Amino acid sequence: LKLGVMASGSGSNFEAIAQSIQDGHLNADIQVVIYNNPDAKVAERANRFSVSSVLLNHREFDSREDLDQAIVNTLKDHQVEWVIMAGWMRIVTPVLINAFPNRILNIHPSLLPSFKGNRAVHQALEAEVKITGCTVHLVVPEVDSGKIIIQAAVPVLEDDTVEALQARIHAQEHQIYPAAIAIAAIQASH
Ligand code: GRF
Repeated sequence: LKLGVMASGSGSNFEAIAQSIQDGHLNADIQVVIYNNPDAKVAERANRFSVSSVLLNHREFDSREDLDQAIVNTLKDHQVEWVIMAGWMRIVTPVLINAFPNRILNIHPSLLPSFKGNRAVHQALEAEVKITGCTVHLVVPEVDSGKIIIQAAVPVLEDDTVEALQARIHAQEHQIYPAAIAIAAIQASH
């Protein structure tokens, strides 16, 4: 599987996927990492794994569609087959989605369809649920929707904080994302 990873921040999910490939657990190659924020730590992680990284700074594009067209061009230049959104904090448009139909995955820090959007961990605490988690799903134009590939449950503890809960969710994300890529590829081949 030829993967292209899109990340805006720390890139710990990128690293979990790259490590899984290096360890022989996931049969794939990361062709390129695209990041949109010049300070994103994911670029250093990509260097460590000798993966090429490309900065496409959203501030330098006039519209979401223009940014997404540049992303599509970069992914195609690198022969990418599967697009892995791993903490990509920009809303994507049909320009990207239609270029890779049913071949884009995203990870979200809740048990979808609960707590869509970018405050998912806060919302789980505010709702006082006892169990939350993370979801890998196919990307469709509607944000945080699309077919669910895999989920992991994470308990909410007594006196939990956003930071502590986030960290426990992150640990589960790192477990499920490499597996989700393999499962999605098998499902797509049927
Ligand atoms: C993850 O919590 C993911 O669920 C959310 O963004 C975060 C990315 O973390 N969409 P990282 O950059 O992979 O460390």
